[in-house]
Amino acid sequence: MVNISEVRGNSRETRTAAHTHIKGLGLRSDGTSEKVAGGFVGQEKAREALGIVVDLIKSKSMAGNAVLLAGGPGTGKTALALAVSQELGTKVPFRPIVGSEIFSTEVKKTEALMENFRRAIGLRVRETKEVYEGEVTELTPEEADNPLGGYGKTISSVIVGLKSARGTKRLRLDPSVFESVQKERVAVGDVVYIEANTGAVKRVGRSDAYATEYDLEAEEYVPIPKGEVHKKKEIVQDVTLHDLDVANARPQGGQDIMSMMGQLMKPKKTEITDKLRQEINKVVNKYIDQGIAELVPGVLFIDEVHMLDIECFTYLNRALESSISPIVILASNRGMSNIRGTEDIVSAHGIPPDLLDRLLIIQTLPYNAEEIKTIIKLRAKTEGINISDAALEIISQHGVNSSLRYALQLLTPAWILAKVASKQEVTELEVQECEDLFIDVKRSAKIVAGAQPNSFIS
Ligand SMILES: Nc1ncnc2c1ncn2[C@@H]1O[C@H](COP(=O)(O)OP(=O)(O)OP(=O)(O)O)[C@@H](O)[C@H]1O
Ligand SMILES: [Mg+2]
Repeated sequence: MVNISEVRGNSRETRTAAHTHIKGLGLRSDGTSEKVAGGFVGQEKAREALGIVVDLIKSKSMAGNAVLLAGGPGTGKTALALAVSQELGTKVPFRPIVGSEIFSTEVKKTEALMENFRRAIGLRVRETKEVYEGEVTELTPEEADNPLGGYGKTISSVIVGLKSARGTKRLRLDPSVFESVQKERVAVGDVVYIEANTGAVKRVGRSDAYATEYDLEAEEYVPIPKGEVHKKKEIVQDVTLHDLDVANARPQGGQDIMSMMGQLMKPKKTEITDKLRQEINKVVNKYIDQGIAELVPGVLFIDEVHMLDIECFTYLNRALESSISPIVILASNRGMSNIRGTEDIVSAHGIPPDLLDRLLIIQTLPYNAEEIKTIIKLRAKTEGINISDAALEIISQHGVNSSLRYALQLLTPAWILAKVASKQEVTELEVQECEDLFIDVKRSAKIVAGAQPNSFIS
């Protein structure tokens, strides 16, 4: 007996992460914010301000500007940035990083910053290409005797018959094209397009004339292309500048033994040089002037920005002035603090004053009891947790007294306890048990303060 089990997709709905409930900024069409919308509760001013930022980004009039989200821990800064990315949609690049990501022993920190800058700048390339497009009616490789002798035969060319709504054509293609035909697994009855000058073959899908032949759900059925087989077609591609950098970085070495060794080792990131970037910028600018390409400045979000050091900050200053620059959103939960990399320069949010001066600063405020309660209710709903009113009240109280994060974290363990006790909902009992099992920061600090130094290590 063969054992067959079905693999169930773990779709996004079944997993809940910290910000799963956030769906957007939740603004009305006039830009004002509703009290509870898009998964957001309160923080109206910050949401409205970011709504304006989103509009500026969409109208492309904000490149080179930077925004700072400043506020205490757990006031929704990261959640707000995420909401911005959702508002922008998938066509605008959004690159989230954390300040500490920049520090690596292999790559210079300014280099790492630069890479992330370029990941946040998109380029929409519109190309009109000469293509052959149609449903494949015939696919015959033509064989010839192997020119090197021997018994084997090689493929000298391949005949492809294409049919579109307005005509048919037979093409004789190069054997190299045959390889990409095979790679795309093209068969008779598929709709394909072949680029005339590069010979690149792209399989669009299965012709819907064949829709009834198999019962395969995975197959995408497409109609027979309109117009002639041979035509001009506009192809739109979205890439980031970093994609271009990588694609054009010098391939590793030639054919000698040393480069063979080089290929075994992991490719160095430093291969993308400043010179290469400038070359690419030049080409990009040319494309933009010719109207082939369009720049889409996206968003670089640097969370915990106080983790950057003084060198990174001066670099940021410069990078923001470049003509090709994304919108930079920073977030920090520090007040007055030492700037990393300096001895004793103290500045607001750990950011040097000259950079602070260029930022639009948006403040996030602490939540009141009512808001905390609504957020917890929302989270419980997203995680599929039933909770009694009394239990909700206690957990909300923790949100006020301890922190919103602590309160949110109590939800799931309490739900597990409730399920173990075969209850339908979380009651006060489970919450109290959780309080005993998982202590909050304040209590933990109190215990540590009372103990001898290093008493945990025996
Ligand atoms: N206004 C809000 N509405 C709904 N959920 C919120 C709101 N604010 C925060 N949250 C949720 O509370 C949790 C903590 O928020 P978040 O991580 O955004 O805080 P933060 O300001 O980034 O804190 P930190 O400074 O510690 O990084 C997250 O799960 C977030 O989704
Ligand atoms: Mg955060």
